[in-house]
Amino acid sequence: MEKQKRKIVIVDDERIITDTLKMLLSLEFSDEICTFNSPVEALEFIQHNGADVVLSDFLMPQMNGIEFLTQVKKIVPYTCMIMLTGYADKENAIKAINEIGIHRYIEKPWSNTDLILAVRNGFERTELINKLTLEQEMNKLRDDFIATLTHDLRTPLLAAIQTLKFFLDGTLGELNDKQKQFLDTMLTSNKDMLGLVNALLEVYKYESGQLVLCKDKFLLNTLLTQCVEELKPLADNKKVSIEYDEAAIEIFADKQELRRVVSNLLGNAINHTQAGDKITISAKVAEDNVLVSVEDTGVGIPQEDIPNMFRRFSQGTKSKRSTGTGLGLYLSRQIIEAHQGKISLKSELGKGSIFTFELPLGVALNV
Ligand SMILES: Nc1ncnc2c1ncn2[C@@H]1O[C@H](COP(=O)(O)OP(=O)(O)O)[C@@H](O)[C@H]1O
Ligand SMILES: [Mg+2]
Repeated sequence: MEKQKRKIVIVDDERIITDTLKMLLSLEFSDEICTFNSPVEALEFIQHNGADVVLSDFLMPQMNGIEFLTQVKKIVPYTCMIMLTGYADKENAIKAINEIGIHRYIEKPWSNTDLILAVRNGFERTELINKLTLEQEMNKLRDDFIATLTHDLRTPLLAAIQTLKFFLDGTLGELNDKQKQFLDTMLTSNKDMLGLVNALLEVYKYESGQLVLCKDKFLLNTLLTQCVEELKPLADNKKVSIEYDEAAIEIFADKQELRRVVSNLLGNAINHTQAGDKITISAKVAEDNVLVSVEDTGVGIPQEDIPNMFRRFSQGTKSKRSTGTGLGLYLSRQIIEAHQGKISLKSELGKGSIFTFELPLGVALNV
């Protein structure tokens, strides 16, 4: 996109002054310089085109500098305003600086160096304020988005899921097989969507730095056991075995969040294995780290996809994709990195994959 030229607007009722200023500033700045001898015309211009720096005379017949700059401020609140004053008006000018937030005043006759410096600072100031304002707006948009996701999407989805469950468990009367089948499909789709909404919510929480870890001391194997128990039925269903050595390692971490990581890795392993395959979970302390890995003998990941696997929405280049969100590994990385740890992956197509995360022992031993 072509960068828009910045604008300097100069207003003085005396033509000779606007001409001189324009000449002086055009030697120094390659920006657009617009001069006006009438504040009303200048206001009209600013209304339509904006301005980055506005230079105004103090005494003008139609409208004085203070009135003019007050109007300017209403139209473009973040523009830098500089007032040119005669010596006699100095006091009024200072008053105006405080009252309407004029950036600075320059006495006539001005020093060229001072004036150029003031304009240069003015540009910098305007750019900085615009950037900060934009950031604030983006943050607000993101917060609004999180609120929308939470309330407007999650709530009705939860209600729909609950209602479908009532139908399916017979609370609302007998259903025939066909009806059950359709409602079951609806339930699955609604749950998938809830999963996506929850994952997005997590992503935005992490990205906006709103997630604060709730660390606690606990035994790593209690967490691993929980995850295995939760997902074993899925693995059994596919005739995939899960092997897991219990190791009593005490860690200091956010249990809920780490559980999300392990469930993601285990869930992925189950998704990408077939009957007869094996999943192995192991945990050990090595040097200054606790290492947890989830290994599978499944389909594996193409080498060219490996570097992208922890990116947002990445689902690899395989033609057959899961119905997932592509957010699981991304979130897992965010969680591990929030714990000052690292997560990595090794994989060979057709042979299987191994995902490993490590947390520094400082985390493990933090008491
Ligand atoms: N154990 C695994 N074996 C093979 N491919 C995997 C494995 N884990 C993850 N992947 C690949 O990484 C992608 C991203 O995983 P993830 O971020 O959890 O998203 P999702 O599971 O929602 O697709 C998956 O779509 C899959 O292509
Ligand atoms: Mg996944």
